[in-house]
Amino acid sequence: MAYETIIVEVEEGIATVTLNRPEVLNALNSLVFIELGEACANVGADDSVRVVIITGGEKVFAAGADIKQMALSTAVNVATSVRPSQATFNLIENLNKPVIAAIAGYALGGGCELTLVADVRIAAENAQFGFPEIKLGILPGGGGTQRLPRLIGAGKAKELIFSGDFISAEEALRIGLVNKVVPADQLLIEAKKMAKKFAARGAVAIQMAKTCVNEGLRMDLNMGLQYEHKCFSLLFATEDQKEGMKAFLEKRKPNFRGR
Ligand code: CAA
Repeated sequence: MAYETIIVEVEEGIATVTLNRPEVLNALNSLVFIELGEACANVGADDSVRVVIITGGEKVFAAGADIKQMALSTAVNVATSVRPSQATFNLIENLNKPVIAAIAGYALGGGCELTLVADVRIAAENAQFGFPEIKLGILPGGGGTQRLPRLIGAGKAKELIFSGDFISAEEALRIGLVNKVVPADQLLIEAKKMAKKFAARGAVAIQMAKTCVNEGLRMDLNMGLQYEHKCFSLLFATEDQKEGMKAFLEKRKPNFRGR
């Protein structure tokens, strides 16, 4: 399916969704959020897709929400206009398959918030992260004030949000904002390497593990452990569990079928 603001390619079970507004550093307007949501819902429903990569390519991830569009907003219509972005962020965070953000260049404001809803973040050495909203007289409104402290802790999150400063890929790695840093020309290669590793695992087990982590973060420890226990038990009803353990005992690689 052809989109105006993104490119979607599916190859060997890996869907790569590339933000495609280079003239404005991939600024995220409402059409991007609508198309991104639609594309992710489609790949989520496609059993042949095992892993999703979201990227902006080797130069820029996204310089935030589209300020030209936002500048026209009022307190009344901003509530309506942020709905597509919230819906898309939530959809990606809860997608039934792993999502890897492959980030080069700027990942600012809403762009950085988009990386926060991915399961794993891989940064190119040229990546820069930041929440410049404060310099515009607003705050991170795409989940940044909530997801960022959950990922890196409240102190570091507040420093980034209050200052609006940008940080390098190395600093992002140091504070746990990204999982790994790679040379820019290796970014998509590394993201696909990781995606292939995830794709070779049992899809149902990955999906449940993702749900356990995501839902567990919203519960207290006791509830989370109970939730984990239920998911763990349920996996013993899958063909993949039988195949995984049989393959181990037969000293061969498992052939998971996602059932
Ligand atoms: N929205 C709209 N257009 C943007 C944009 C944005 N967020 N970021 C960059 N652009 C546009 C610029 O206006 C410029 O367009 P023109 O050529 O038509 O002037 C083009 O992209 C290239 O940008 P620059 O010339 O500014 O490039 P630079 O290399 O000199 O600077 C930058 C790069 C530091 C990223 C700078 O563009 C910048 O500060 N951008 C805004 C970053 C920002 O404030 N992001 C947060 C947005 S608010 C938000 O995201 C809210 C939320 O929480 C959901």
